[in-house]
Formats: sequence, C-alpha cells, structure tokens
Amino acid sequence: MVLKIRKNKYTYFRGINLSKTLLEIKNLKTSFRINDDYYAAVDDVSLTVNKNEILGIVGESGSGKSALAFSIMGLHNRAKIEGSIDFKGKSIANISTAKMNKLRGKDMAMIFQDPLTALNPLMTVGEQISEIIFLHNKGLSNKKRKGRVIQLINQVGIPRPEHTYEQFPHELSGGMRQRVIIAIAIANQPELLIADEPTTALDVTIQSQILDLIKDLKKDMDAGIILITHDLGVIAEMADRVAVMYAGQIVEIADVHTLFENPLHPYTRSLFNSVPNTNEHQDRLHVIQGIVPSLQNLPRTGCRFATRIPWIDESAHEKNPVLHEVIPGHYVRCTCHSQFYFPDESKEDQKHGVS
Ligand SMILES: Nc1ncnc2c1ncn2[C@@H]1O[C@H](COP(=O)(O)OP(=O)(O)OP(=O)(O)O)[C@@H](O)[C@H]1O
Ligand code: SF4
Ligand SMILES: [Mg+2]
Repeated sequence: MVLKIRKNKYTYFRGINLSKTLLEIKNLKTSFRINDDYYAAVDDVSLTVNKNEILGIVGESGSGKSALAFSIMGLHNRAKIEGSIDFKGKSIANISTAKMNKLRGKDMAMIFQDPLTALNPLMTVGEQISEIIFLHNKGLSNKKRKGRVIQLINQVGIPRPEHTYEQFPHELSGGMRQRVIIAIAIANQPELLIADEPTTALDVTIQSQILDLIKDLKKDMDAGIILITHDLGVIAEMADRVAVMYAGQIVEIADVHTLFENPLHPYTRSLFNSVPNTNEHQDRLHVIQGIVPSLQNLPRTGCRFATRIPWIDESAHEKNPVLHEVIPGHYVRCTCHSQFYFPDESKEDQKHGVS
C-alpha cells in the first residue's frame, strides 16, 4: 500500500483523497469588464469547505454571493478570475469548459437562485433531469433512469411525479420549478453542492423538506455544501460555519454558534440587528442604513464599510483591513471593531457589547 504525501498537503491513499477539505479558495478576485475597466464583484475571498459541512454565506443584495458561487462553478463567461480555487486538491480556476463539464452536475452542482433561467423551456422536466443522469452515467438503462427521475421528483416534494415528468417548465409554478432545479442538482449526489437561495420562493412546509434533503446529502453522502441565503433563521438551523460578505469581501467568518453569540464586525452586528424578534432588545435595534454600492462606485482602497458608518471618525478606521483570526476559527476583516459603536448606543452598551 502506498501512502503518498503531495506537495500541496493533500493526502492520497491509493488515489483516494483522504483530506477533509473539499474546496479551498485563496485570494479569489472575480472582475467584470464594464466599459474599459475591470471591477471586482468578488475581492480577496479565501475560504474552505470541508466534507460533511455546511458553510452558510450571508450578506445583503449585491454583496457578491452569487458572483462567488458562479466563480466556483466556472460559469462566468467573460469575467477575469484571479487567485486559486482547488476542488479535492486540484485547481479548477480557469480550467477548460470540457474539464469543468465533467465535474459540473456530478462532483459539484448548483441550485440556482433564478429557476426560470436555469431550466430549458423546450425540454420536459423528466428529460432535463434524465439528461444530467445520462451525461454522467451512460451505462444506466432507460427504465432505471426513468425510475430514478421519478424518485427524485417525488423526493423534492412534487405530487404526481409521473405527470410532472411530462410537463414543461412554463406549466409549473415558481415553487415547482425551484424543486425541479433542486432535483437536477442532487440527481448525481454531488460531493459539493452550492445552493443559492434554494428555498426563497417556497412555502414553509416545502422549505423545510428541501432543507432536510440538503442535510441528508451532507450526512449520507459526506457532501460539502455552500448555502447562500438572506434568511438568518435558515443559517442558524443549517450551517456549521458562516461567512458574512459585504461588497465582494468576506468581513467575518466563524462557526455558527460563535458568530451568533459574538458577532464582531460592525456589518455583521447590523445584519443581526435587522432581524425583527420579540426579545427584550427589540426597542434597541441598531441598524445601519444604506445599500451596498454598485461595482463602479465601490471604494477601491481602504475599508469598504467606512462610508456606511459616517459617525465613526476617518482616523479610527483601519487603512486596509484584512481578514485576521481573533480566536481560533473566528476571522474578522477589521482590527478596530472593539471601538465601533452605533450612534444611539450608550457607553454601558458598548462596554458590555450589547447591540
Ligand atoms: N455578469 C456581471 N457583469 C457585471 N456586473 C455583475 C455581473 N454579475 C454580477 N454583477 C455585479 O456584481 C455585484 C454582486 O452581484 P451578485 O449577484 O453576486 O450579488 P448577490 O450577493 O448574489 O445579491 P442577491 O442577494 O441580490 O442575489 C453587483 O453589483 C452586481 O451588479
Ligand atoms: S475599519 Fe472602520 S469601517 Fe472598517 S470595519 Fe473597522 S471600524 Fe468598520
Ligand atoms: Mg445572488
């Protein structure tokens, strides 16, 4: 038996990758060309996703969550991708479409945010799910493949699967289409699943069925999952670790308990404050106003969040904050967070970290 240690620290045992790390991204920068210049929608993003782990990604609209997901899946046609993306120890950044096609839909899959554009309007639901199984498992008989498709349609909570098999996407409601997308994504039991707002369009019962399916995939298949959502309740229930994105960057990353109990970055604190709840601090919500600036208007130097908190004096900000580890596993893109305060926060609140 040969035990081989590769230079890139991934351990292989007779060709099997024994590393826990499924995905490792370092200093990823994804830029789009607008007029004659490149603008980064994802900037200096580094993260890992382990097997049997759900990494939640939160952040308000326009913070670069989908751009990050598309970068991992190699789906940006004209973007400039810099930095490294390694899947199971092998680089997948800027690899050929042919190589990427072998991985997509099998080893790694994505549930898209927009179900209409992700489905082919000219093919039936059954044909579309069947196609992704056929592409990666040509040996399966037609009968078995159809059986598997019906099973998947059933699994995602669609009633009368045989009937839906024959339907076209436009004949389905938005929620049904989203479930078809989920069936396509999990058809080949991928090792890495990126779920971009997978349940936003669905009602609560179906939502919890879908979330259970994602959990099963993690547990039964040892899959690594990136779960992108605006819903902090879903994050609390599902995620093992959470990355908070703002203006293309990760501003904080930690395990889910640490992040909810001790959010440090001002943006994370504001994000948590924006969730209405019934606890005793309801009357003391500190929420930062404004929106993520558009790509062309993003400050290219200094802290991108500074413009959202004008009451903090310029001199108090860190010049070019980088993500650094405050306690093992808890990273924050700011060293001055302990001096941060909300304008209507009392000195006592600050002292006790109440927000
Ligand atoms: N193909 C593209 N060309 C130019 N700009 C783009 C492109 N795709 C995304 N952007 C810009 O990149 C930024 C991040 O967009 P992205 O869709 O990743 O945000 P998001 O966090 O997924 O938001 P939401 O929560 O609304 O889905 C936005 O300013 C968006 O306009
Ligand atoms: S540098 Fe300033 S704006 Fe940026 S996170 Fe720290 S306190 Fe906030
Ligand atoms: Mg998005």
